[in-house]
Amino acid sequence: MKLQLFRNARIFTPEDRGRPSSGNNQSRIIRYDHGAMVVREGIITNIGAEADVLRAIGGERFIDEYDCLGRSMIPGFVDPHTHCCFASLREEEFELRAAGTPYLEILRRGGGILSSVNAVSKATVAELSNMTRDLVLRALKLGTTTIEIKSGYGLTTEAELKMLEAIGNTAQEVPLDVVATFLGAHAVPAEFRDRSDDFISLLIEESLPAVKKQGIAKCCDIFCEEGVFSIDQGRRLLLAAKSLGFSVKIHADEVHDLGGAGLAAELGAISADHLLAASDDNIRAMAKAGVVANLLPGTAYSLRKPYARARDMIEMGVPVALATDCNPGSSYTESMQFIFGLAVVNMEMSPAEALVAATLNPAYALGIAQQVGSLDIGKQADFLLLDGEGPAVLAYHAGVSSVQEVFKKGVRVTC
Ligand code: NIG
Ligand code: FE
Repeated sequence: MKLQLFRNARIFTPEDRGRPSSGNNQSRIIRYDHGAMVVREGIITNIGAEADVLRAIGGERFIDEYDCLGRSMIPGFVDPHTHCCFASLREEEFELRAAGTPYLEILRRGGGILSSVNAVSKATVAELSNMTRDLVLRALKLGTTTIEIKSGYGLTTEAELKMLEAIGNTAQEVPLDVVATFLGAHAVPAEFRDRSDDFISLLIEESLPAVKKQGIAKCCDIFCEEGVFSIDQGRRLLLAAKSLGFSVKIHADEVHDLGGAGLAAELGAISADHLLAASDDNIRAMAKAGVVANLLPGTAYSLRKPYARARDMIEMGVPVALATDCNPGSSYTESMQFIFGLAVVNMEMSPAEALVAATLNPAYALGIAQQVGSLDIGKQADFLLLDGEGPAVLAYHAGVSSVQEVFKKGVRVTC
């Protein structure tokens, strides 16, 4: 049985109280200045001040010892919202947007998400999984040890199943934990332009059962937005998904306040994502229902939009998580470090709040907080060693990687 001791570390980990952290609790961080961690078969069996840990393990033998050289140790990042499975980039659209063309206008002209749909329709499963794997491995190198990946560039049952198959293959090929989400309702396909209700019916009657049968996706998501899908359509689809056993989540109130945050509260969604335009009433409803707010500052950065109101949400008691939203359109970044920096500098989050939002709260948002998200006994030893005195370095030292080493289940996966 493999027993490992990681010693001489400055450990920072969110305190896991059995639910996502919100309000004042959002910043509850446990810190061991001269800390150590014992890992058996990839699972943490002891963690604390080094002297206490050494005393507790007493004469335990066959220990693999690893000196962390006094560096800061934090949990691996959990990225709860990505579109990392795609077939081509859209750099020219970035230039169009930089010159003033709005994101939804590009979509209306048949570009944007629809251009990614066109590229995916021509790609094979192998091509998709190769691209996804390469991107995910770059995220791993930057500290992401658990990642959610959505379909959503298929928009036919067949193409969505192809994307999910590629995501499933990627999950087999990388050391990260991968959570797959079915996002068949990401855009209205051209052939359903004036009858999006019929498209939702198709998703309910044909796609959802097929995705369930395939068995790769655990969650179902929808993009509720003006000109895309309405709140009523979101309710129809997500109720059907829930009845099949999917966890549900929503791209909510990204550009217009349609009430997606309120729908997430009503349905007990695991998260509501984006929320740039969400109303106070609906944010309070999310707090009451315990729905995690997945905030995506990479999108605000790339679309030159205002940032989500993280401070207000935390004050109102909503558990806040951060995600890259990695996609070829609105947020092309696989770096949770970049997101961490944007949150601290542009969303007035403290480094401690950002740490909770990049590790424990997203683990809750994905329903896997029993396994990952903090350095606690019984969880996986997924952690990072940083080049800095603490997590603040992730925002402080901008534009570079402060992650020196990444460990997944106690195994060093990058250096
Ligand atoms: O989360 N808002 C919709 N979906 C993605 C964008 C995907 C794309 O532009 O390809 C998002 O921002
Ligand atoms: Fe998204």
